[in-house]
Amino acid sequence: MAIRQIRTIGDEILTKKCKAVKEMTPRTKELIGDMFDTMYQASGVGLAAPQVGILKRIVVIDVEDGNRYVLVNPEIVETRGSQTGYEGCLSVPGKSGIVTRPMYAKVKAWNENMEPYELEGEGLLARAICHECAHLEGQLYVDLVEGELMDTAPDEEEEE
Ligand code: NI
Repeated sequence: MAIRQIRTIGDEILTKKCKAVKEMTPRTKELIGDMFDTMYQASGVGLAAPQVGILKRIVVIDVEDGNRYVLVNPEIVETRGSQTGYEGCLSVPGKSGIVTRPMYAKVKAWNENMEPYELEGEGLLARAICHECAHLEGQLYVDLVEGELMDTAPDEEEEE
């Protein structure tokens, strides 16, 4: 396990669409472990593989609900409601902005053993699911911000 370098806005890898994972290999498992290490070290609640320079459809999330979610090839299959609130991103350091997301999201994915499962999230978990899945399409939250992107004091906001 290792901390990987987090790519930041302006790096064109963050604008690219990621490729599906076809099989789980030791190397991909190592990547997933490194993604958690990197996310925790940066005090984030979610991280997508392109943020560490790998164009694979892999997301890790920990919104401190007691679970560590690994989403391989995630697909959002249902959303409901809406929530408007602050959002940040480890790839856009020191900034935050107001973004409207679904209040509920259901996603189909595979875990780190390539077993299919469904994850339902509300509130922050729904926000994290939507934010991280957008990274896999090469999209950053800054394009969804309502009003101005703001400067954020370190550790003030949760970052994804
Ligand atoms: Ni992000």
